[in-house]
Amino acid sequence: MKKILTSVLALAMGVSLVGCGETTDNSSASSSGSKSDKTVGIAMPTKSLERWNRDGEYLKNQFEAAGYKVELKYSDNDTTQQNNDIQGMIADGVNLLMIAAIDGSTLSQTLDEAKAANIPVIAYDRLIMNTDAVSYYVSFDNYTVGKLQGEFVRDQLGLDNAAGPFNIEFTAGDPADNNAGYFFNGAYEALQSYIDAGKLVIPSGKKEFEQVATPSWSTDTALENMQNTLASYYSDGTVLDVALCSNDSTALGVAQAITSDYAGSNAPIVTGQDGDIANLKNIVDGIQTMTVYKNVSDEASVTLEVSKAILAGNTPDANLLSSLSAEASFDTESYNNGVKNVPSYLLVPYVITKDSLQKLVDTGLYQWDSDNKYLESTASTT
Ligand code: GAL
Repeated sequence: MKKILTSVLALAMGVSLVGCGETTDNSSASSSGSKSDKTVGIAMPTKSLERWNRDGEYLKNQFEAAGYKVELKYSDNDTTQQNNDIQGMIADGVNLLMIAAIDGSTLSQTLDEAKAANIPVIAYDRLIMNTDAVSYYVSFDNYTVGKLQGEFVRDQLGLDNAAGPFNIEFTAGDPADNNAGYFFNGAYEALQSYIDAGKLVIPSGKKEFEQVATPSWSTDTALENMQNTLASYYSDGTVLDVALCSNDSTALGVAQAITSDYAGSNAPIVTGQDGDIANLKNIVDGIQTMTVYKNVSDEASVTLEVSKAILAGNTPDANLLSSLSAEASFDTESYNNGVKNVPSYLLVPYVITKDSLQKLVDTGLYQWDSDNKYLESTASTT
């Protein structure tokens, strides 16, 4: 296992030094295809969900520091727009595409065009389905994200020893996002034996992914769904012990519904994922209990290394990780997109609670505010 996190800054600085060298050299090297001749196209889903702002910024900064030109597009969670944006980048002649898909199943035709133009494609964070045009997938171990949430609930409630029963409700992510099922299954399966044994009860009966999915990962939809659940199943004084939410944007809505509409006097356990600023505030205030943190600066670093290797004509494999500080694994079996197993670099997520917020500050990506109470991002866009 490699050392995580601490050398992110060092890595970024190292990269930027290399980048400076390349740029200075540019006049003599330009005709022989230096990095600065190469443009990468980055397609992000939306600015309305916090994390993609951070991803876009880290990717852009790191690629530019390494001497690449960057075209960065956000597509407003609109699949037609994302297809158009990617087609625009293909027409502009980008040398490589990295795409965080809005809907992983809607890009096949556009990616046929990329393939015809010999533009390699990296699926960023979300797998792109039903196409052989994707070369690599860079993400986190998505199943483990959910598993960490489920295990956190198990440990908080002491499910192995406590008599229970405890009540739980699930809120999952966008059915168009291939990650969402992994998150839900990871969490559900970590808790399944306690549900089967009757120690954990789901008063709404909603235990299938489709019943608890949240299109577009919308905070408002998660809020409304939770309000409806509370009105239908908890208005008689039934206690809600856990609201298991797949990520922070949904946890934000669910926590809001609990604050406004839940009659009980306990503070239910609320899970999340991402380390969004509003959610970290809720964690300080005791309205959310944990978040599964994914260091997207590390995700950008791995993506940069994979891209460099591809653009140099190499075929990246497990060896690529030996030069990186980010903790990750190379996996050629777990992610099949319906056409092929997509070779995957999977980074390692971890749990953050109120007691471990300093760990985020230690990444260099967050800082305490002037009152030393809440966290702020050190990235400029968030
Ligand atoms: C997922 C991503 C999560 C979360 C969610 C909503 O694909 O892996 O980190 O942010 O989208 O944006």
